[in-house]
This record gives sequence, C-alpha cells and structure tokens, in this order.
Amino acid sequence: MAEGSKLGFAAFTPPSKGVLIVFCDEKLKFGPAARKVLAPTGDLVTRAASSERFTGKSGSALELLIPGGLNVARLVVIGLGKATDLKSKDFIRFGGIAAGKIPASVGEAAIFADMPSGMMKPEQAADLALGVQLRTYSFDRYKTRRKEGEEKPKVANVTIGVSDPAAARKAWDGRQAVADGVVMARDLINEPANVLYPEEFARRAEALKKLGVAVEVLDEKAMKKLGMNALLGVGQGSVRDSQVVIMRWNGGKKGADPVAFIGKGVCFDTGGISIKPASGMEDMKGDMAGAGCVVGLMHALAARKAKVNAIGAIGLVENMPDGNAQRPGDIVTTMSGQTIEIINTDAEGRLVLADVLHYVATKYKPKFMIDLATLTGAIMVALGQEYAGLFSNDDKLSERLAKAGEATGERVWRMPLGPEYDKMIDSKFADMKNTGGRWGGSITAAQLLQRFVGKTPWAHLDIAGTALGSPQTDINKSWSAGWGVRLLERLVADHYEK
Ligand code: BES
Ligand code: MN
Ligand code: ZN
Repeated sequence: MAEGSKLGFAAFTPPSKGVLIVFCDEKLKFGPAARKVLAPTGDLVTRAASSERFTGKSGSALELLIPGGLNVARLVVIGLGKATDLKSKDFIRFGGIAAGKIPASVGEAAIFADMPSGMMKPEQAADLALGVQLRTYSFDRYKTRRKEGEEKPKVANVTIGVSDPAAARKAWDGRQAVADGVVMARDLINEPANVLYPEEFARRAEALKKLGVAVEVLDEKAMKKLGMNALLGVGQGSVRDSQVVIMRWNGGKKGADPVAFIGKGVCFDTGGISIKPASGMEDMKGDMAGAGCVVGLMHALAARKAKVNAIGAIGLVENMPDGNAQRPGDIVTTMSGQTIEIINTDAEGRLVLADVLHYVATKYKPKFMIDLATLTGAIMVALGQEYAGLFSNDDKLSERLAKAGEATGERVWRMPLGPEYDKMIDSKFADMKNTGGRWGGSITAAQLLQRFVGKTPWAHLDIAGTALGSPQTDINKSWSAGWGVRLLERLVADHYEK
C-alpha cells in the first residue's frame, strides 16, 4: 500500500469496490457488522477457510478474490485468535496486518472495526488506524525510479467502518498525534547525514513551533558561554556547527515542575580519531535516534495537547576525524565543572549527554529526566534488538517504564548500576575517563551519565539495539521504527497528566 494513505471513519456500509477487510476469532466467529455484510456470500468464507486451512489464528489472513455476493474485488478475513482480553497494542498490530493486505494497485479499502464480542470501541478503532498509518510508512524520498513492472503504489483511501464515526474520529485525534510523532522520528532517523546535520536538525525541530512548542536553539557561541566543553569537544572536528535544542510544551498546571526528555543527537558518528571500521559505518547516520525520538515525542504531546509540562532537550553534533578533532588523552571540563579524560573519541555520546543532562537538571529542576541514546554496541550484545537497556536511580520510574514498555511493545530491561562499576571510570589524570574497558561497557557508560544528573530522578535508555535496523514487524517495514515515541507517550499519559 502507498505511503500517506488517506484515513477516514464511516458507519458500516458494504463497500462497492476495492478491498473489504473483516476480523474473526479462532472459531471463525464474526462480529455483527461483518456477519451482516457477509450474509450474501452464503457459506463462501467457511468453504474457503477449510480449503486454505484458515483457522482464525491471531494475525493470520484468508484472502478471497472476486467474492461471490459482494461487489468488492477482494475480501480479506483476519484472525484475532482467541479475541478475549485484547489490548491497545493488539489493535495497533491488527491495523498493521490489515494494511499489509491492501495491494499496491488498490485505491479503496474498508476495514470493519468489528469483532465477535461486538463492535470495537472508538479507542480500539483509533488503534487500528494507528497501526494502518505505521505500517504504510515508507522512506522513499530518494527513489527516483522503480523496478520494471513495479507500479507506483496508489494512495489508498482507507475507511474504517465503525458504529459511531464521530466518536472514533475524536479518539483518532489523539492517536493521530502519536502516529505523526512516530513518523517524524522515523523520517529524521532515516535521513542521511549529508542532509541532516546539526543545524538542519535544529530547523526541523523548530517546526514544532506551529504546534505551540517553544523552541530555543543554542549555537556554539552560547554553549561556550555556558561551558558545555564536553559536547563542543565532540563536534570540534566537524565543519558543521554543533547545536543544542530545547523544546518546551506547557500543557500542564502553570508553574508545575516539568518532565524532561533528553536525546543523543550524533548526526553522524565516524568514531572521530578513534575511527570506526568501514563495514556498517553507514548505519551511524542513525546515531541521532535518541534526539529523533525526543522530537517525535514532543510533537505527539503538543499535537494532542497533553496536560503536562514537558521539556525536550537534544544535543546535536557530528563526530568527525580532522586536524582540529579531539584526541585521545585530551581532558575537557564539562559544564558541571567535572573533568573527563578522553580515552576513546568513539565514546562520544556520553560526552554530549553529560552537558545536556547537567543543563536540564540545574536549569529546569524537572520531576524526572529520561535520556535516550544509541550509546553502546555492548547493549546489543546483552539484549539484542528486543529490549532497550534501562538504567535508573529511581525504582518507581523504572517500574512505570517497564509497564509502559509491556503495554506498547517497546520494551525495556533494567540493568544494574553501582559503585563497583562507577570505580571503573576513575581516571589517572581527571575526575573520570570516558571509557571503562570492554567489560560491562553499557553499564560504565551509564555510570558516567549518572555523574551528571545530581539528585534528579533519572532513567537512561540505551537504544542502540532497538532504534536502528529495526526488525520487520506488522507495524514497521522501515529501517527505523521510531522506537520510543509510543513508549514515552504512554508513560506520560498513564502517570503525568492531570
Ligand atoms: N554510536 C555508538 C554505539 C552504537 C553502535 C550505536 C552500534 C548503534 C549501533 C557509540 O558512540 C560508540 O561508538 N560506542 C562505542 C563505545 C566504546 C568506544 C567504549 C562502542 O559501543 O563500541
Ligand atoms: Mn561512537
Ligand atoms: Zn555514537
């Protein structure tokens, strides 16, 4: 199906063309609206199901061409499995699966938001729509031609059939904000680094102004004045200027302490003088995924007018080798006054975050800070691509993040912190060094961050595994899943809005 599918909600009516998509359970039971629309087909579905051995297993699909008794070109039946106790993330997934069954050549599709237990609630129909939007996303702005025989996908009009279209549209307002936030994050992360360098990234973040977000950009001069030398040191080998962007959304009580999200925004990570091997280095255009997620999240919160005061802060740099680049052995004085000896210029993300975390903690005194960073290869060794690493000084915040992770499918796994690990980054020459050796590499990175958060409740998400080269799922076919936007939006919605 084509990107940018037009989505709408309408009362259940039998469509006259295109694709009709309905849901059934593992007993091949349909909801009331589907039963009615399928009535003229007689026992067609039962016969097709038995010949295809379709049993309504969760996520499976039965496809019928030119179904007799209907005017549509194609009928798709999607299995819900047991269809009891279905959660928000299940409806999002079913929406994704449905969208995947709309062929590129088809211009019209109707999805009946209906199941054996009755018609779907407005929120459930909106979750279907969210799944459709996420599944149909593709990043193809640099493709100027197609393979022979491949036709340009039509922009399909997808109509979700519901019992109360006005209520569904209202629920969709809030979910669409989230869908757009995820898409914004994906676009930023997929974008190549020749296009998306720090100043260009800052300009794209400034687009949030039209949603009522206050956006402030600190340039190198401003950062020098503040003493952000750890961040500036990372960017000093690049011809591109480094930037810090602060986004503020004030939808909560006036004067109430904000929640804060901080993103690593290394627009490209060559490793610097400690240069990376050539193989796979192209993936380091995504080393700003933490920052991309923060911008997408701020979009989601502002677009749905979340009742919360939220800060988004991103440190944008390019890590390059150069005659002016930072060297191993260099010592930088961070904004906090603490000094860091650079052992490896490829451990740059923690240097960027050290200054941004300190800045946010001292300037905004947030309720909590959560940072997202593609920080270490070691977290991929530990957790693969299924869970992000969670490091925190706060059990309650960790618990809430874990729950939001299970609810959205963007899962986090808590990792340890402690004085034994902290010792590993003590330096001979400075207050600390920027690497702690090969063992426990994700933990020592987190220990460095912790030295810059003071007493603020804080969580660090190491998203190196989850954010890039994302596994293909029912709701994402792109290199970047925009990981984290749904997780943090859910955390805010469940606990920090009133
Ligand atoms: N951006 C990388 C981490 C990374 C690796 C993200 C693979 C996504 C995929 C980070 O800046 C880095 O280079 N970390 C080093 C740290 C080491 C030098 C202590 C690493 O993990 O090897
Ligand atoms: Mn690096
Ligand atoms: Zn990096």
